[in-house]
Order: sequence, then structure tokens, then C-alpha cells
Amino acid sequence: MGAILSLLFGSGDGGPDSMEGPAADVPDEETGLTPRQKRAVVVTWDLVKQDMKGNGVELLCRFFKEHPEYLEKFKAFATTPLDDLPENKKFQAHANSVMYAVTSVVDNLDDPGCLVEMLKKLGQNHGRRNIPEKAFLDLKAVLLQLLKDKLGSHLSPYGEEAWDKTLTTAFTVLFEGLKDPEGTNT
Ligand code: HEM
Repeated sequence: MGAILSLLFGSGDGGPDSMEGPAADVPDEETGLTPRQKRAVVVTWDLVKQDMKGNGVELLCRFFKEHPEYLEKFKAFATTPLDDLPENKKFQAHANSVMYAVTSVVDNLDDPGCLVEMLKKLGQNHGRRNIPEKAFLDLKAVLLQLLKDKLGSHLSPYGEEAWDKTLTTAFTVLFEGLKDPEGTNT
């Protein structure tokens, strides 16, 4: 209970990495994440959420600038010049979808069963669109860099590692769905 309360309300000096007691560093059996790592992710994502649309648009703009080869998967704006994407409403809507999906992951870090179902489904939806694993790994690299750039000193090396681990774990489950888009193995 103490760990949950401090996740919600903070503890110690209230910094993103701050949590008290030995339980704070005990990894969850299913996700491998410790309460302190989860807290670092929750607290930093709260800052990102303050400008959900702006950060989502920037995430995907950076992604398509670094990897224009993936644009062809997006019928709604595949032929829109990169510089026009930020103002394109379909692009903004997609950026929002991605950000809300990340928010659902962050909000459910304490419910691994629900997380697994959400991530497998997300993987299946993308598997049906033939999105390769590499595209997710490329997006992960862009997201981690965006977090560093946007959060500055609010993202400690500890927080960075927590994000890396969260995304790696999430994508491991997502890739199961990606490989089994019709859900025949579940
Ligand atoms: C953190 C990683 C990602 C998240 C959270 C995410 C989330 C979403 C969500 C919520 C949707 C709309 C609902 C659905 O159809 O499932 C969507 C659609 C889509 N995603 Fe992703 N996505 C991610 C990564 C990627 C990557 C790496 C690609 C490939 C380059 C991709 C390509 C697409 C495409 C093509 C659509 C359909 C767009 C449309 O036609 O409206 N996604 N994604």
C-alpha cells in the first residue's frame, strides 16, 4: 500500500526517482520494473502530457524525418510533404492516437495482465498492416531522444533507463501480437 500511495502522491523530496524503503527497488515479477522505475516513468510522462498534441506531432515529425521510408504505410498523409505534416489534421489525429496509447501503457504499469492484453492487441493491429519490428525499435530511439530533449534535467539517467526498460518490455509483448496478427496462438 505504501508503494502505491507514494506512486500516486510522491515521497521523500518528491523528485521522479525518489521513493523510500527497500520495496521501491524490488522488480515486479511480470514486468521486471521496480516501483521506483515505474514512478520515474509516470512522473516524467505527466510532464510530457502537458503538451500531448505538440509532443505527439514532434515525435512523429522526427520519426518520419529520420525514417521517411515508413510514410508509405500511412495512406492518409503518405504524400504530404514532411514540412506540411504538423498542420495536417489527419497527421495530428494519428499523433494523438499514439500518445494516448503510450498513456494507457503508463497508466497500467501496475496492472500487467491488462497491459499484456492491450499490447498484444496493438501488436496485432500493426501486424495486419505489415509494420516490421524494426519500425518500433526506430520509433523507440526517437521517443527516448525526444524525452531527453524535452525533459532536460527532469529526466535523470535513472529515468532514462526506466523508460528504456519500460519500452523494451512493452515491445517484447507487442511483438508477440505483431507476429500473430490473427491471434491464432492465443
Ligand atoms: C509506440 C509505438 C506505437 C504506438 C503506441 C502506436 C499506436 C497506434 C494507434 C493507437 C493506432 C490507431 C489504432 C489502431 O489501429 O491500432 C495506430 C495506427 C497506425 N499505426 Fe501505430 N503505433 C506505434 C508505432 C507504429 C509504428 C512504428 C508504425 C510504422 C511505421 C505504425 C504505423 C501505424 C499505421 C500505418 C496506423 C494506421 C494509421 C491509419 O491508417 O489511420 N505505428 N498506431
